[in-house]
Amino acid sequence: METKIRTEHAEKAGGNNGRSALATPSGLSTLTPAGDQRLNRGPAELIERMQDLQEAHGFLPETLLRDLARELEVAPIEVYRVASFYRAFSLKPKGRHLITLCNGTACHVRGSSALVETLRVQLGIGPRQTSEDGRFTVQTVNCLGACALGPIAVVDGQYHHHVNPAKLRALIRGLDEDGE
Ligand code: FES
Repeated sequence: METKIRTEHAEKAGGNNGRSALATPSGLSTLTPAGDQRLNRGPAELIERMQDLQEAHGFLPETLLRDLARELEVAPIEVYRVASFYRAFSLKPKGRHLITLCNGTACHVRGSSALVETLRVQLGIGPRQTSEDGRFTVQTVNCLGACALGPIAVVDGQYHHHVNPAKLRALIRGLDEDGE
């Protein structure tokens, strides 16, 4: 199952903290100003544009969010609300290596908490943190859709199943040996 896939998929799978893919921050459906054709797709257009920015830059730079808010005629606070609602969005640059641990129920009962602790010890960072040297970012999601194979870890877009602390340490060592 260690199949290379796009990180985007993993992010979308857990991108909103396990909520439905259709879930949006409360009040977001009111973003569309009456009669404004540019926003008649409402929240979907805002989110798509933010996804494009995230893909292009690896995170959502503040200046570009302000530009987007101005262009779509949406209050900047609403844009920030969307950015902070979805885990797939990041307001800070991510590390060169992205480690995503599934902490959904099935993975949790199979020991995913021990994986979080393993990274705390090995890298000195917890979920939603980036190492000071900019090499690693750790994030957790609530289900990656492969519960029977858990715990699941996604390292730089590559899925790993039945992960335990020893296997995770070996994966991190492999990244260390890359020297990146
Ligand atoms: S709970 Fe981890 S893949 Fe579903």
